[in-house]
Amino acid sequence: MSPLVDIAHVTRVYGNGKDETHALQDVSLQVAQGEFVSLIGPSGCGKTTLLRLIAGLDVPQGGTLHVAGEQISGPSHERGYVFQQGALFPWATVAQNIATGLKARGVYRQQQHRVPEYVELVGLDGFAEAYPHQLSGGMAQRVAIARALINEPRVLLLDEPMGALDSFTRVEVQDKLLDLWQRLGSTMILVTHDVDEAIYLSDRIVVMTPRPGRISEIIDVSLDRPRARDDDGFLRLRSRILDKLNLAGSRPGAHPERASR
Ligand SMILES: Nc1ncnc2c1ncn2[C@@H]1O[C@H](COP(=O)(O)OP(=O)(O)OP(=O)(O)O)[C@@H](O)[C@H]1O
Ligand SMILES: [Mg+2]
Repeated sequence: MSPLVDIAHVTRVYGNGKDETHALQDVSLQVAQGEFVSLIGPSGCGKTTLLRLIAGLDVPQGGTLHVAGEQISGPSHERGYVFQQGALFPWATVAQNIATGLKARGVYRQQQHRVPEYVELVGLDGFAEAYPHQLSGGMAQRVAIARALINEPRVLLLDEPMGALDSFTRVEVQDKLLDLWQRLGSTMILVTHDVDEAIYLSDRIVVMTPRPGRISEIIDVSLDRPRARDDDGFLRLRSRILDKLNLAGSRPGAHPERASR
């Protein structure tokens, strides 16, 4: 079967001459329909850059990106995007925020009846008329996820959506995301700094290294779901990934400022 998302030999360089940054160099990745894939790696390794390329918000200098066999040529409702901080409209209610997904596509009139279903889907029953300042951080992120999902995207792109949440709320949103992934059969690509989050959620974890941004390893997570964070297999995988990340981030001489502490 051909992959849903096919990224082949993608290169993205910012700036030029002395200021050149190889945000991504020769990155290839295939994601199957219905798969949950996480991208993990130190700050600056190109995770957001890769997600923005898949979203069609940016174009590569080299290589190709296809979704469902079609070359990506710009943003599309078929690729939903959730930002680190939900970026909800503060003046709009939960229902109105979720509806912006429909408005952006010009189908609000015909499809506004679907909004309550998505309010409920992310567990916000009773909060449809609430405003963002009345929500917890976790609730706000669930609104942002609903806003992307209402367009029934082929792939949901999530850029550290739990990154700004406290650890309890983070687990709550992780469980909601997992529940949605299982119920909707969606394809999800998640950027995260959190190794536990990546193991808890993913079918595969893509470990990236910076300067130039490259994929250093793709790890299959074959643990049964629901996963227990204190399970032996979970802990083994965690130390393997942490080792990999430490190696990636602390080559001799890479962080002289750390060595002096
Ligand atoms: N618009 C831009 N102009 C210049 N350089 C950029 C731009 N966007 C990203 N970069 C550089 O490209 C590299 C990769 O950035 P990117 O934001 O993709 O990293 P990241 O892995 O998402 O990092 P973080 O974990 O901190 O979010 C970084 O070195 C960054 O400084
Ligand atoms: Mg980023």
